Amino acid sequence: MGIHGLLWAILLHACITGYVIEGLGFNWGTRTSHPLPGDIVVRLLKDNGFRKVKLFEADPDAMKALGRSGIEVMLGIPNEFLAPLASSVRAAEDWVMQNVSAYVSKYGVDVRYVAVGNEPFLASYKGRFQQSTFPALQNIQAALIKAGLGRQVKVTVPLNADVYQSPNDLPSGADFRPDIHSLMLSIIKFLVKNNSPLTINIYPFLSLYMDPNFPIEFAFFSGTAAPVIDGSITYTNVFDANYDTLIWALEKNGFSSIPVIVGEVGWPTDGDRNANIAYARKFNQGLINRMLRGQGTPKRPTPPEIYIFGLLDEDTKSIEPGKFERHWGLFYFDGTIKYPLDLGNGRKLVPAKGVKYLDKQWCVLSPNANLKDSNLAGSVDYACTYADCTSLGPGSSCSNLDARSNVSYAFNMYYQTLNQQKGFCNFSGLAVTTSTDPSRDTCRFEIMIDLSQHKVSPSPRTSSAKSLQQPSLMTVMAVMVWSSIGVLHGLCNGLWTMTM
Ligand SMILES: *[C@@H]1O[C@H](CO)[C@@H](O)[C@H](O)[C@H]1NC(C)=O
Ligand SMILES: *[C@@H]1O[C@H](CO)[C@@H](O)[C@H](O)[C@H]1NC(C)=O
Ligand SMILES: *[C@@H]1O[C@H](CO)[C@@H](O)[C@H](O)[C@H]1NC(C)=O
Repeated sequence: MGIHGLLWAILLHACITGYVIEGLGFNWGTRTSHPLPGDIVVRLLKDNGFRKVKLFEADPDAMKALGRSGIEVMLGIPNEFLAPLASSVRAAEDWVMQNVSAYVSKYGVDVRYVAVGNEPFLASYKGRFQQSTFPALQNIQAALIKAGLGRQVKVTVPLNADVYQSPNDLPSGADFRPDIHSLMLSIIKFLVKNNSPLTINIYPFLSLYMDPNFPIEFAFFSGTAAPVIDGSITYTNVFDANYDTLIWALEKNGFSSIPVIVGEVGWPTDGDRNANIAYARKFNQGLINRMLRGQGTPKRPTPPEIYIFGLLDEDTKSIEPGKFERHWGLFYFDGTIKYPLDLGNGRKLVPAKGVKYLDKQWCVLSPNANLKDSNLAGSVDYACTYADCTSLGPGSSCSNLDARSNVSYAFNMYYQTLNQQKGFCNFSGLAVTTSTDPSRDTCRFEIMIDLSQHKVSPSPRTSSAKSLQQPSLMTVMAVMVWSSIGVLHGLCNGLWTMTM
């Protein structure tokens, strides 16, 4: 193959494996009874061209798998750690050493941000983390500098959008919440001084969930909602309006240029009448289309970094905020696809590979069982205490089941969650196992992944990922040449259209 052929092959390779939506990241939460192994998740991210990830804590399996993956990491610190990190410089140094330095140097994890706390000023916390957040942030920043990571790793604090408000409901009327106004200014000043971004979580779904009169189209990006007019700006979606409310609050207080990352945004697929596949697809596709167009908001035309919440469903998340909490994933818990998405130029979502499942065996209500059996209600209650039954609620994917299937659903979730262990499909003799999949319409009777098989199988990461991690010098140089003259992107676009 001549040099032309070689370059062509390289270009094709870069287009197929390296097509990335600029600025797009995913929240990878791990509150689940059956976590997908880290190496499979990292492969899922790479296969889809997702190059940024946000973790809520330094989960060792996830961190190790992210090593030398080419994926940039925002690493979170849970709120419970804020007080100890605030009160001791030493604790912050230990945290950075154990949770950042070690992974950076030993595994080659590309940590870009440390997210100190998670929505610590949420109004419902009633000030619990108000004293500790800023000192913890300062201590972590100092510890990063001491560890020699001050340039590479930036600090930030992911905040809920309730830290700002607008008395007249227009973005231009915005300011920070009075109870944390001066604290916010101190934190922002500190972030600016350290070249660090502010991070904000925006949830159009929750606007709709909490206010039945919320105009539903305004939650999406279709542009068909009755607009909100703010001076010379016309808003047709709540995401823009909300983001710009923050930008106004920043401007008003003299911080018009601090970068603002969207730390969480997304739409759940189950557990509420507005949480369904059609709406989630509409929202996330709309969001991705904006990013593909490089579109920001009216006040900030350059698009922000955006982390979609979330990557995978999490069946042990608290449902205090609502039953939808366990269904935010772009993918189901096992990395299978919920709905198709166009990632640009016709590129489609790719599911997780190499997932091992338990036997194709479900637990259902015995045909001989009587619905009036005195043990039945207690058994269902018990099953749903230990397993996730949120799909059974009103407006959810399994709400149309008849009474018998409803019970079966609960029994099966319990049986799967307990790894199909012998004796766990019994419920006083009311339950039996079956090899016929009871799923119907929108209701999925899950089979969990086989954790024992995943544990014993050798990690394929080290071998399979290497070829991509360590391209030959020739490849690196050729790609550098091509991208530096700025043609790679355009040519990729051309190639994609040609192959469609
Ligand atoms: C590292 O982070 C994890 C999870 O956030 C935490 O449990 C652990 O205590 C941290 N290490 C140190 C030394 O603080
Ligand atoms: C199905 O189960 C859920 C949860 O156990 C319950 O709230 C609901 O009323 C049940 N529906 C039917 C039709 O039995
Ligand atoms: C199922 O439960 C019943 C009643 O609690 C018990 O008598 C029976 O032995 C159990 N069957 C199995 C297979 O565990």
